[in-house]
Amino acid sequence: MRENILVLDFGGQYNQLIARRVRECNVYCEVHPYTLPIDDIKKMSPSGIIFTGGPNSVYGDDSPQADPEIFKLGVPVLGICYGAQLLAHQLGGKVATAPVSEYGRTDVTIDGRNGVLAGVGLGDAKETGSQIAGNSVFWMSHTDYIAEAPSGFAVTAHTTVCPVAAMENPSEGFYAVQFHPEVVHSVEGFKVLKNFVLEVCGCKGDWKMDDFVARTIKDIRAKAAGGKVLCALSGGVDSSVAAVLMSKAVGKQLTCVFVDHGLLRKDEGDQVEAIFGPEGSYDLNFVRVNAQQRFYDKLAGVTDPEAKRKIIGEEFIRVFEEEAKKIGAVDFLVQGTIYPDVIESGLGKSAVIKSHHNVGGLPDHVDFKEIIEPLRMLFKDEVRKAGLELGLPEYLVYRQPFPGPGLGVRIVGEVTAEKVKIVQEADAIYREEIAAAMESGLIPKYGQPGTLGQYFAALTNMRSVGVMGDFRTYDYAVALRAVMTSDFMTAEAAHLPWEVIDKVTTRIVNEVEHVNRVFYDCTGKPPATIELE
Ligand code: XMP
Repeated sequence: MRENILVLDFGGQYNQLIARRVRECNVYCEVHPYTLPIDDIKKMSPSGIIFTGGPNSVYGDDSPQADPEIFKLGVPVLGICYGAQLLAHQLGGKVATAPVSEYGRTDVTIDGRNGVLAGVGLGDAKETGSQIAGNSVFWMSHTDYIAEAPSGFAVTAHTTVCPVAAMENPSEGFYAVQFHPEVVHSVEGFKVLKNFVLEVCGCKGDWKMDDFVARTIKDIRAKAAGGKVLCALSGGVDSSVAAVLMSKAVGKQLTCVFVDHGLLRKDEGDQVEAIFGPEGSYDLNFVRVNAQQRFYDKLAGVTDPEAKRKIIGEEFIRVFEEEAKKIGAVDFLVQGTIYPDVIESGLGKSAVIKSHHNVGGLPDHVDFKEIIEPLRMLFKDEVRKAGLELGLPEYLVYRQPFPGPGLGVRIVGEVTAEKVKIVQEADAIYREEIAAAMESGLIPKYGQPGTLGQYFAALTNMRSVGVMGDFRTYDYAVALRAVMTSDFMTAEAAHLPWEVIDKVTTRIVNEVEHVNRVFYDCTGKPPATIELE
């Protein structure tokens, strides 16, 4: 059995982060709802269990409780925030409303540097975040607190508000922290989780991407033996990695359908074909559907952004279905679902943002028996690691996000073949110059700290007067967008060096026909969105 940590979710906002941090210790980790039956828990044979935070009060009616059997498994348990209060409550301590809520960075006094707090609160403010010797700064977010630790527990940390900021019962393997070690604001938070995973639970930390890749290929091969497999390939990171995994597992049983909707970046369709097509290095059947004109026809005269999105999404599904029909009944349909989607939908949280953003959803008329989701246990950066492991080119693996409706949402107003060409050319120049600026060290490289979250050129629907070679022009304005963001929910406009903007502007107006003006979008999100539509 591979060593693993089980995170039981009690509705906390940070459950994904906990799993991330555990995996950063090279230990496999899964998040499940707290209602996971005890027999399933036993089957997983976890090396340790973590209870997450949550919005409830342990003493409230119907508040989620842990199955008391968990405490008898002989497996170490770490409770975080609500999870910590639950340990106190269910093991005989006392939880009450705190006189004052604690929220945000909080100075925590370490009383016992044992167990999960081994080595915590030592060193200067740079290491602990605190100006007070022996303290360490952690992120707090609670209105209840543990007023009394259960018998058998020692209090290992406190704050000015919280008498029990951490407690432990090492002989039983029970640990609890009121704060959130998983968030970056907890200066020594990772140390706490690492102590739990590697020291308390005794994990070796030998979970590696090559193991994952080899194991997944083996599992898929066993599952899909002899079956026909169909995959919609977009050229994005997730579907590319999923396709390669499938190809390594079942070879020519796999058919990848790549729909070129004519709204891709310059040369992108050919690049996808070069990698996955007959000249590429993977063993699979590749079908490219050149449906550009079909999409342009459907989009003719449509200016409303939502209507455009809908048309592109629906048309995409129709084209895919038609191709699938030619292939006939298949046994498996591949989906590039990744772990954050699984956690969000599986645990009943809102996945609205995602579904809104996904083109089309599932096809209705494709004849398949089962869905295969080879990446369903991976976080985005792990998908990238798997991609590199599988030999996909770096430029594809580190690709910035590209919306499903493609340039359709980067052309304000009606989409036409001519406008697509303009924005493709302008965007290619912009990307070339950003790459050059990254190469020369003017701006941090993609994937490095301080790097751009997303950048692209868009075509405004504005035409204005200009002068070129003594002639009056009446042409389009291109908008350059570059944002700093890590979650894409909020963003700020990047402070690009002027010399980069200047060079891109000159090149675009000189090299791209029908553009006589370039704007830089200085707006953050909110109030703007990242895409123009
Ligand atoms: P917005 O424009 O909403 O973009 O600030 C946030 C992130 O989502 C991407 N995006 C989309 N992705 N289909 C997608 O697959 C869409 O319709 C869509 N709209 C926006 C956008 O590129 C950015 O990364």
